[in-house]
Amino acid sequence: MKTIALIVAAGRGERAGGGLPKQYRPLAGVPVLRRSLQPFLAHPRIDAVRVVIADGHQDAYAAATAGLALLAPVTGGAERQDSVRRGLESLAGEAADAVLIHDAARPFVPAAMIDRVLDALADAPAALPVLPVVDTLKRGADGAVAETVPRDGLWRAQTPQGFRYAEILAAHRAAAASPPATDDAALAERAGLRVALVEGSEEAGKLTTAEDLARAEARLAAALE
Ligand code: CTP
Ligand code: MG
Repeated sequence: MKTIALIVAAGRGERAGGGLPKQYRPLAGVPVLRRSLQPFLAHPRIDAVRVVIADGHQDAYAAATAGLALLAPVTGGAERQDSVRRGLESLAGEAADAVLIHDAARPFVPAAMIDRVLDALADAPAALPVLPVVDTLKRGADGAVAETVPRDGLWRAQTPQGFRYAEILAAHRAAAASPPATDDAALAERAGLRVALVEGSEEAGKLTTAEDLARAEARLAAALE
């Protein structure tokens, strides 16, 4: 099975603020994107890795990925879904059977999590790593609780999300004109594909805010001591 990892890094990182978009910021000296690529480049079941970047970020990309064996980057779009679709279209000539779609903003994916996603693809066209919801959920209205939402059967979705290539490309093409979804499993679901649930990892959390970056930096510094 030929498997390609598609890393989406074409966002502007607005919630994290700061000058350089978060995927190009150093964490203990190593750019977030470089860290995010490493588990895929090192994984024996992944054949190639391509990054989707924003127009104008070519220099930051080149600096962050110097010396890494990657397919040439492609340019993303305004929404994450556009970036993924462009990335998928760019892989048309690669004869990929499967694709792992991953956020560049998740730099600490364990190799075992990649294995769980790939294993699930043997029996399903799509595989989604998830974690349980641990907090009690409330729906609010006008500053007060309207109701408590049962959390049974609710999961937090992570990436990498795995798909059979032809199926997710078709799902993305079909969804191109609809309001954007925040992950690719949602499009697989919309296309009627079975999305298998596999265990995610707390390690694979997304860096969204400046605090997330600061916490990750502190954790790495503590690990080096
Ligand atoms: N992404 C992308 N193309 C976009 C928007 C997002 O490739 N048009 C990527 C981001 O680079 C990131 C991942 O999708 O790796 C998850 O998105 P998010 O965490 O929302 O990152 P940003 O969109 O960059 O951040 P923000 O929403 O705070 O601006
Ligand atoms: Mg975003």
